[in-house]
Amino acid sequence: MKNKFNNIGSKEWLPFQKSWSTYQGDEALYRANIRFFTLLGEGAPAPWVFYHGQHHALAAQVAGQEGRRCTTKVLDPIQFGLLDLRGRFDGVQDYILQKAELINIAAEIYKVLDNRRFICIIIDHFLRGGHAPLAWDLAASLSGLYSLKDEKILAYPGPGPTEGPGHAYALYLRKDEFSGQGLRMGYPALLKEGPLPSAAASTWQVVRPPRRNPNEVLHPAKFPEQLVAQFIDLYCPPGGAVLDPMCGTGSALVAAQGLHRRAYGCELSPFFAQLAQQRVQSLPLEANREWKVANVDARACASQGFPRVDYMVTSPPYWDMLNMKGAEYQARRKEKGLQLNYSDNPNDLGNIADYQQFVDELVEIYCAVGLLVNQGGKATIIVKNIKKKGRNYPLAYDLANRMCQMGWRLLPEFIWCQDDINLAPYGYGNTWVSNTFHQYCLHFEKIGE
Ligand SMILES: C[S@@+](CC[C@H](N)C(=O)[O-])C[C@H]1O[C@@H](n2cnc3c(N)ncnc32)[C@H](O)[C@@H]1O
Repeated sequence: MKNKFNNIGSKEWLPFQKSWSTYQGDEALYRANIRFFTLLGEGAPAPWVFYHGQHHALAAQVAGQEGRRCTTKVLDPIQFGLLDLRGRFDGVQDYILQKAELINIAAEIYKVLDNRRFICIIIDHFLRGGHAPLAWDLAASLSGLYSLKDEKILAYPGPGPTEGPGHAYALYLRKDEFSGQGLRMGYPALLKEGPLPSAAASTWQVVRPPRRNPNEVLHPAKFPEQLVAQFIDLYCPPGGAVLDPMCGTGSALVAAQGLHRRAYGCELSPFFAQLAQQRVQSLPLEANREWKVANVDARACASQGFPRVDYMVTSPPYWDMLNMKGAEYQARRKEKGLQLNYSDNPNDLGNIADYQQFVDELVEIYCAVGLLVNQGGKATIIVKNIKKKGRNYPLAYDLANRMCQMGWRLLPEFIWCQDDINLAPYGYGNTWVSNTFHQYCLHFEKIGE
């Protein structure tokens, strides 16, 4: 197939598609993006790259080495825009003040950007006063004007802006048939005034789960016990209680019991509820430990007689993605004769087709279940952004914003990076579509009843 998008071969295309990468310096970062997002046409003039940021000389040097031209002026036509906003903002107020100017620049670029071409915004969440999700707010604000296509995590091997490994975002926005609809609100609930949470000591980790037992494979999407164990250790005091209202195979309960925490869970599917019970029951731990799995809808979680808990950790169905039969993962499971979705139960959140309704019902459940969490207690929701039929739904960001409207305060996010899945050459030669190999662990603190 002829590559109409850039001049690189499949060997370079494929690794670029992984949705997170270890940061290897600005030069490598700029070069990889400029090479990926521009096309040198035979006999055509060198494409223009628009650059905005503190390292214009570096951007111009890299572009020149790659046979592209770099400009800080809005020229016609632009093939790619690179906006590097890291280290630019003193605090949330400063970001809000500068946002109008940034949006203006993005809007000017939009006018001269070639159709189906991208801008990339590099931005992080580290402010002098602490942590604030600026990338998510900017992505939401610009989605509409551009199509928000993707994000990539730049994982700093450490010490980055934090004491330990940190991360930044590369947001990818495209001019296309869905764009040009004007600006959106962003996420005001995520950028409330007041003291910011301190940046976390470390913000990402590659987690390679051990091989699953044959019965655990039956579940389409479990999270690794070793991942949640870290969070339980951090957010639930010794002897405290942990709750997962959609506990699937019971991974959160298994991890909690291993750390001598009491463990409670709800699960809609009788099959998975039983599996969770068996897994907790068979743990080689001392007798009399306290735990319970209820085979009920999470909507009824608060009436199961569970005690108040210190920590909720959970992961929802990722909208109705398991019902998308075309997905590659689905095809592989079908081949092996494994269950494709969680259930056909209409109360299963994975069977809600409308995105807004799905988010509304999910947040409603978290709020009802949240009544069981002690004031000041913590919650973690493990989730990812979703790509469906060519559109990007930033579920993680939307959920964070909604939770913050409902009495929860966002703490710094943690990124679970995956490297145990094979990359697929989506969009090869045509456009950029990442392989989503990172999941968000959204941490919250309960501040309102
Ligand atoms: C991503 S999975 C959770 C996996 C789990 N963390 C694990 O490690 O096994 C989501 C789970 O939510 C369950 N679920 C969907 N709708 C539900 C509802 N209304 N009430 C309770 N559970 C529900 C599904 O059956 C599925 O097991």
